[in-house]
Amino acid sequence: MDAKWLEQVKAKLEAKMSYGLAKANEIDFIPYTVKDGEWAPGNGGKSWWTNGFWGASMWQMYLMTGDEKYKKGAERCEEMLDEVLVDFEKLHHDVGFMWNLTAGVDYRLTGNPLSRRRWLTAASTLAGRFNPNGFIRAWNGDRIGWGIIDCMMNIPLLYRASACTGDPRFKLIAMEHADTNIDCFIRPDGSSNHIVCFDPMTGEMLDNPGGQGFESGSSWSRGQAWALYGFVLSYIHTGEERYLDTAKQVAHYFIANVCDDWLPNCDFRSPAEPVLKDDCAGAIAACGLLEIAKAVPQYEKAMYKTAAEKLLKAMEAEHADWSEDSPAIFKKCTGAYHDGKPHIYMVYADYFFIEAVQKLMDENAMLFW
Ligand code: GLY
Repeated sequence: MDAKWLEQVKAKLEAKMSYGLAKANEIDFIPYTVKDGEWAPGNGGKSWWTNGFWGASMWQMYLMTGDEKYKKGAERCEEMLDEVLVDFEKLHHDVGFMWNLTAGVDYRLTGNPLSRRRWLTAASTLAGRFNPNGFIRAWNGDRIGWGIIDCMMNIPLLYRASACTGDPRFKLIAMEHADTNIDCFIRPDGSSNHIVCFDPMTGEMLDNPGGQGFESGSSWSRGQAWALYGFVLSYIHTGEERYLDTAKQVAHYFIANVCDDWLPNCDFRSPAEPVLKDDCAGAIAACGLLEIAKAVPQYEKAMYKTAAEKLLKAMEAEHADWSEDSPAIFKKCTGAYHDGKPHIYMVYADYFFIEAVQKLMDENAMLFW
């Protein structure tokens, strides 16, 4: 990677994240997006699924700069999540995103016993959502048999809980879930379903709605990115080659679909117009590609690393807002193809970009997942 680009981006991150933190310290919610130039929360209040990413960005910035103000920002975010950790009705499979990246990172860095309790409580909640037919239930309400590809990024919480406690049950659940995802979510061409509805009693696969993508059978790019990164993480935590093979298969599909401008469309199989982009997909995929590059033999590394660099450089050049008009950075994120709110700021595009920059600056950077 070109060292000059990295140095410039690091300087821009320091200025922008410092500004974003000052703004976050003025509010009593966890940042999700931006409205009228100010931080705005997610729809679900404190239980909103992205609420670990702000704290995780703070930890990444703390490791990048050594500045204690980021550590304080991370700790404040973790404390703000406590009121949901005890609210069973509001918890969902995204407890992995929320606590692995906050309390989990805190415990691993500082040994704080309270963080460990929060982290393992979240892991127990996620394990409790396992359906013995082989999948982790995603959402609540009447969606009892629904699994979603995003959950591949929640199961690292389970791998880490087994490593921390010595109890293999968490890891066994994670592997069952990952294996079901290979069988029922990943298509022969390397693309992925977003949602699979199973019969919760028998495990029979009933339907695969379009979810946040264009339609059933299309290819929601963020889902592809969750699969790409999620499977290589399962490989890292288990050493099982089938997970690395799956991550590579998804990566090849992703690269083939993005390599015209390296700015992922929200769905790779949507109509040509309107053009909806999703910066989150590019940043998540870049992180996964950098992990694949570390896992493969020397002669294969360049393709994955170069693809990651192209994704990061394109999103920085075209979609980054380094000004103080907004506390967040990336402005072309799309929550769902049909939600009517394309091209907004979303705090986790920023998080994954920072994580990827850290990986490029230091191949041995701490793996948060
Ligand atoms: N996990 C939900 C999303 O990617 O929007």
